[in-house]
Amino acid sequence: MNDFNDFAHTGPGTVAGRYLRKFWQPVYHLKDLPAGRAVPIRVMSENFTLYRGEDGTVHTTAFRCPHRGMQLSAGWVEGNSLRCFYHGWKYDASGQCVEQPAEERSFADKVQLRTYPTEEHLGLIFAYLGDGEPPPLPRFPEFEAGPGMFEWSSYVRRCNYFQNIENSFDNSHVGFVHRGHGDAYNGMSDRPIITTTENEWGIAVNVRRVSGVERTTYFGMPNVYYMYALAEEGERGWIRSIMWWVPIDDTSHVNYWVRRLPLVGEAAEEYKQRAESRQKRRFHGDVADDVLAGREHRLDLDLTQTHMVNFQDDVAEVGQGAIADREHERLGRQDEGIIFLRKIWSRELRALEEGSPLTGWERPPGMVPTPRDQAELLTAKGR
Ligand code: FES
Ligand SMILES: [Fe+2]
Repeated sequence: MNDFNDFAHTGPGTVAGRYLRKFWQPVYHLKDLPAGRAVPIRVMSENFTLYRGEDGTVHTTAFRCPHRGMQLSAGWVEGNSLRCFYHGWKYDASGQCVEQPAEERSFADKVQLRTYPTEEHLGLIFAYLGDGEPPPLPRFPEFEAGPGMFEWSSYVRRCNYFQNIENSFDNSHVGFVHRGHGDAYNGMSDRPIITTTENEWGIAVNVRRVSGVERTTYFGMPNVYYMYALAEEGERGWIRSIMWWVPIDDTSHVNYWVRRLPLVGEAAEEYKQRAESRQKRRFHGDVADDVLAGREHRLDLDLTQTHMVNFQDDVAEVGQGAIADREHERLGRQDEGIIFLRKIWSRELRALEEGSPLTGWERPPGMVPTPRDQAELLTAKGR
């Protein structure tokens, strides 16, 4: 396999890894990292330290202390600086060492901790882990405009991230893997007309149904998905969502999902309560493990629960193996979206390898997915 067809390996030095590092990636949920705390994170097979200063600002640094290699997340946040647990060397927000308590003659000015551009947006912490000047952080201002609330979720899936990206282009699995999910998914049986086109941000997927209902979803290069998704069980309609698939390493990845709900005040409070009780009632298990080990055949679990979609995709994607074999596939007509996606990725990786200019993906402000049908949008009343 040519390196530019290898999307799966993203460690330092790999072609796909170098490519992904040219884009800001979400690395944590802001709500999970209180001010004054440091945590270890792993992204694309590399470890880093993430911390929030006492003023709430976010910082990403190298994983280990330049002195003798202590894991820095075990240390202390002081103001906007980070102090190592082992011998107390202290690094300011720029990574400059500013204190070496045990050294009689400090050489702190000669010691630098590597830091990475870090910003927050939509309740997520984004880091730029590549070399050189980062591009501006892509923003989604329409998510912040007007009244409404955010909802966040995340899951780790134990397979390569690219399997999940490809799955989002895999239209034929929906009516099969998720066949029990009522109108939304059974609707797939009317053989939609799917058109995939390249645009300024990545790929638009337009789905037109016999009923005349049309829906456009956007895939932003290299690993973002912007769409309307079915609301949680017990809720009504479709909600605007953005998600990112970020490699932890080559055989696991994390999905960051942000939703925007047009709910405020009492309606927002009620939604949160329903969400909490859903969470408690939910099945929490590892369907993929059980099914793939042959202990259970649980694809027919209670399919009325929206979150089961995730478990079903889990079985399907983990079931392709930790890293899917793309050299011995038999692709069909229904796989055109996947082929289209791979062509664009290959083209960019080849350009990177050859030192040719890369496409400067940018989302025009008006590029916002269209809902499945206006009437079906989640509303504050009438669940
Ligand atoms: S290892 Fe960090 S101060 Fe010594
Ligand atoms: Fe799916």
